[in-house]
Parts: sequence; structure tokens; C-alpha cells
Amino acid sequence: MTAPLEGGSAAPPHARVNVRLRAARGLRMDTRVPGDKSITHRGLLLGLLAEGTTRIRAPLLSDDTRSTLGVVRALGARAEECDGEILVEGTAPGGLREPEDVLDAGNSGTTARLVTGILAAAGVYAVLTGDGSLRQRPMGRVIRPLAAMGARLYARAEDRLLPLTVLPARLRGAEHALEVASAQVKSALLLAGLGAEGVTAVFEPHPSRDHTERMLRAFGAELQTLPRGEGRRVTVAGGQRLRGADVLVPGDISSAAFWLVAGLIVPGAEVVLRDVGVNPTRTGILDALAAMGARVEVEDAREEAGEPVATLRVQGGQPLTGTVIDGALVPRLIDEIPVLAVAALVATGDTHVRGAAELRVKETDRIAAVASEFGRLGADVEELPDGLVIHGGRPLRGARVHSHGDHRLAMALAVAALVASGETEIVDARCASVSYPGFFPELEAAVAR
Ligand code: S3P
Repeated sequence: MTAPLEGGSAAPPHARVNVRLRAARGLRMDTRVPGDKSITHRGLLLGLLAEGTTRIRAPLLSDDTRSTLGVVRALGARAEECDGEILVEGTAPGGLREPEDVLDAGNSGTTARLVTGILAAAGVYAVLTGDGSLRQRPMGRVIRPLAAMGARLYARAEDRLLPLTVLPARLRGAEHALEVASAQVKSALLLAGLGAEGVTAVFEPHPSRDHTERMLRAFGAELQTLPRGEGRRVTVAGGQRLRGADVLVPGDISSAAFWLVAGLIVPGAEVVLRDVGVNPTRTGILDALAAMGARVEVEDAREEAGEPVATLRVQGGQPLTGTVIDGALVPRLIDEIPVLAVAALVATGDTHVRGAAELRVKETDRIAAVASEFGRLGADVEELPDGLVIHGGRPLRGARVHSHGDHRLAMALAVAALVASGETEIVDARCASVSYPGFFPELEAAVAR
């Protein structure tokens, strides 16, 4: 890495910092990746709604979770960071404070969707917005079903886009059938359902991450979850009180994914990742890599604070073959597709990703961005309306590539750079701080050249 963070510490916090990388001769790391982003958001938000104190241990402290922290404080919870933990003094049912100013979800879709569910039933006036990327991401998927419960939500572009205004309303429980498996939408509806009269049910066509359900139970709520066809139906009765709880946040498998792929494709690499969350709704990356012929050792598997956790170990230079990613696998690895594309580029044969149109409405259009940016590195990637065909086995050559302001694209491009000839310059790489502030320094420390 010639200039790990060009601009250095003198650069203003939101400056677009470029990173230059060269191929790695080795990669050695034994680390605990940062805390799970989804679980940290939920710990903060349930802490806000609960009575008493919630202690969040090993949380992710990143741009996205700081957006949630700001919202939680603006809605009346006391939240303090101390020794790498966050303590939240909740507001209890009916106790949310009307925010004095516009709430800002920053770049975080999870914050925007879950907070909308909470606000719908909170009995307050509030306005919610986000950054330029988030203001283009669909909110109709939460606004429509919440309106069917009686919520009064008004948003730009015919109620589809942030900013969003919430007015006080009384909510009734309702039955929702989601067209796309989305943990954010499911969670928003369950959180609104807690504040509604009667029962709220959410059917999802394939299981999405279930951290909200697990954590609600840990906070004392009762929920029913039943398999139905290929999907799942979750029900919650309104009016339940939450009690503050101890949340131990496992390492984020979505962050571990970058090191798993780097560890597999860099010859001679040795990577050990400890305390990684291996909730089965999140381990699609392990299944996809196994289908590609990779050996990822899963050791010391155990359950901690209601979430499965394990140590993951990989060794470099393993031969990989193309695979198919579709159906129920997609929601289990949706955030890992940019970095899985790197494994697919190095693999022999083609990898097909289908049924993943959701990628078009992430932090950027990840189908278009993966095809264009990996294309600049010499890769042969075809765009489909709902996925990608990645033709593996072509040599990658360094080039100037763009993150599109998308943290996961910036980090996936960095992993690709480790096996590209010459120099790769990633424009606007600072966005890695959305989910993984230490990513580039850790990469620099782990790489051998
Ligand atoms: C998340 C759910 C997923 C995922 C996102 C985090 C969550 O989004 O892509 O990064 O924490 O609930 P969708 O629910 O929109 O699929």
C-alpha cells in the first residue's frame, strides 16, 4: 500500500480520501472484526424503547451506528459511551420525546426503516432525513404497510423517499405479506406492532436476518415465529413492555467476509477471525464459499447472549470454482455479494447471481457499480436486471476505480486490488467508516508485499 489514506489526518472528516493499493504477497491476521452493525442498531433502538438500562457490550462504533445513537438521544434516551460499551437509559412505553429538530439517519437504511416503524406508533411529530444516497432509497416499502396500520406518514415523491414527516396516530395491528425478504421492513413492522392495538403479523417469502426477533425476546417480549412454505411468519401482540437488557454484540460476519475472501485468494494467507456472529440467517457467505470449493474452518461454535458465535479460519491460495447464488440464499448473503464477486473473479468458470434485484436499492446500485468498477480492473461481469454473471479466471490489472460512496464496494475493491497487477486507486474510500472504520489500517498491517 503506497498511500494508505491519502490526505491523512489533516483531511476534513468527510473529505473524499483516495487509497492506493498493490498486490499482496501474503496476508496474516488474527483478529476480532468490529461488532455486528445490525445488532448494534437494534440494541440502541430497543434500549430506547425499554424501561431501565440497556448495556451494549462490544458495539460497532461507526458512522451508521452513530446515526442511530444520535436519533436515540434526540428521542429522549440517555446514551453514554464508556470503555467501548454503550449504556442506554430507556424511555419506556409512551415516553419517547418529540425531537426538537430533524432526525438524521445519515447513510443508514437500517436506521431509516426501523426508526420509521418506531415513530409511526410513538405519538409524536417528527421529521426524518438522510444523506444523498439514503434520500434516493425506497421508503414506500415501510410507509405503505405502516399506513395500513393507521400511521400518518408523509414523504417526498408520492410517499416514497425521505425526508419523511410523522404525525401522531393510533395504530391497529395488521397482517402483512412482504414481497421481498427484508429484515428492515419486517423489523419496522414488528416495532410498530409493539405500539399498536392487537396483533401484527409479518410474512416474509424467505427468512431474512432475525436479530430483531431474538433481541425482542431477550428484552422480555413474546413473539411467535412459524415456518410457512419457503418463508416465515412472525407475530407480535401490541402493548408489551420491554425491559432493558445486556446485549453482547458478536463480530460482524459482513465485515469478516472481506478478510475471508482476501484470505482465500491471496497465496500463503493465514486469517483467523474470532467471535464472529454465525446466525444461520447471515451465513450464506459460508455456504457460497463452500459451494465454490473453499475450506473455511468453523471452530469453537457456541451461543453468546442469544446469538451463535464462532472462530473462522482460512488459508490462502485455494482453488475456487464458479457457483450459483439465488433463492433463499440471497437474503442470507445480500451484503456480501460485492466481495463474493471478487472470489468469483478469481474462480474458474462462471458465477451466476439471480433473484437479487434488492442490490439495486442498496447504498448504491450494486449491480451496476460492481459491473462497472470491476470492469475497470479488467473483469468480465455482465449485468442482469436482478443479478450478475461473473466470468471468472481473467487476470485483474490495477486501475482507478470508484467506491460510489458505498462502504462495501470500497472494501470489496480493496480485496480485488490484492490480486491485481500494478496499482489500484480507490477513489472515495473513506466511506468504509460507515461500517468498518479501521478497515484500511488493518489491511495495511496484515498485508505482506
Ligand atoms: C439489514 C438488513 C438488510 C441489509 C442491511 C442491514 C438490517 O437490508 O442489506 O445492510 O440490519 O436489518 P434489507 O432488510 O433491506 O434487505
